[in-house]
Amino acid sequence: MTTVEFRTPEALAEAERWTAHNYHPLPVVVAEADGAWVTDVDGRRYLDFLAGYSALNFGHRHPGLVAAAHAQLDRVTLTSRAFVHDQFATFCRGLAELCGKDLVLPMNTGAEAVETAIKVARKWGYRVKGVADERAEIIVADGNFHGRTTTIVSFSTDPEARADFGPYTPGFVVVPYGDLEAVRAAITPNTVAVLMEPIQGEAGVLVPPAGFFAGVRELCTEQNVLMIADEIQSGLGRTGRTFAIEHEGVVPDMYVLGKALGGGIVPVSAVAADRDVLGVLRPGEHGSTFGGNPLACAVGAEVVRLLSTGEFQERSERLGSRLHAGLEALIGKGVVAVRGRGLWAGVDIDPALMTGRQACERLAERGVLAKDTHGSTIRLAPPLVVTEADLDHALAQLAAVLNS
Ligand SMILES: Cc1ncc(COP(=O)(O)O)c(C=O)c1O
Repeated sequence: MTTVEFRTPEALAEAERWTAHNYHPLPVVVAEADGAWVTDVDGRRYLDFLAGYSALNFGHRHPGLVAAAHAQLDRVTLTSRAFVHDQFATFCRGLAELCGKDLVLPMNTGAEAVETAIKVARKWGYRVKGVADERAEIIVADGNFHGRTTTIVSFSTDPEARADFGPYTPGFVVVPYGDLEAVRAAITPNTVAVLMEPIQGEAGVLVPPAGFFAGVRELCTEQNVLMIADEIQSGLGRTGRTFAIEHEGVVPDMYVLGKALGGGIVPVSAVAADRDVLGVLRPGEHGSTFGGNPLACAVGAEVVRLLSTGEFQERSERLGSRLHAGLEALIGKGVVAVRGRGLWAGVDIDPALMTGRQACERLAERGVLAKDTHGSTIRLAPPLVVTEADLDHALAQLAAVLNS
């Protein structure tokens, strides 16, 4: 097998020819990246305003993260969990302390961490709460996005994600996002958990009404139900806090983390909870060959270290204000609405002008990468290392696209 160097059209055609069509990417073929910028195979540069859906919160190839990965590549990369390795406890302790929880369980992808949370909640329900066998219920939100496994798509409300993949896993109850009375009404003696995103990313960066999660927290405590926050996309600095749920002054029973936890280098995910919850698992009941591997732990520990300084959270809050002010100024000039927190925004484009996809294509032509969702919304989530000049440049390009 030889590696052939392609320019953009050939590279796109080859990718189309040899892969399943489960994505509809923008026609950009990335060859290199650094910080907030990527360069394509033809040498064109783009500002990355998607940042791997928040997997690249620290930018492309952050020097500290790359150094941690390089150092570990020269030592040991994989042991499986059959043995313990010397990076494991450092990472797990650091992450547990960052979360303020007793224990963590590392996995790889976000969907695996969500699956982990579901299994732990169910087992907690049967063994601690006393729910009758096979009766556990988990309350989730309309418009949710928690991943792509068969169990997770079972409670998706997006027909594209769900249709044709049944039979579906039972045990989930869907309520409108942000509707506290609906959560209250959905709780039964068999409810083991409420699983929700503090801000719904895939749905268009939807921020729930103020007080919603404080209310959910109260209900969960009162009814002996676990509150699980899927912070895979919203967490680890994205919204100006370590966790987006902090904006609500709330501590969930379980955090579900992923994306940025791997520093944009390796897939790293985890759940974090106290011993009375995560302690229900016994050997043989859950795991993954690659979960918590030495390379992942070395990078993950450095991610935790970067977050523990507060620098990235502060940047996200400060630069996020600039981003949101710039976007608000476009309302009525092609933008219908803007939502989000920190360096994260859902921008509704006037459907009379163009679709979200068209807006992203035109932005890419002007050297800014973003991704559309649900027809007329585009999502902006630049790496937290983005500069003020980068932000102003991207905002100017968006204004130009809306004027074109
Ligand atoms: C909130 C949330 N949960 C879970 C996932 C799934 O993560 P992964 O794609 O790593 O499986 C995502 C991915 O976008 C997400 O945004």
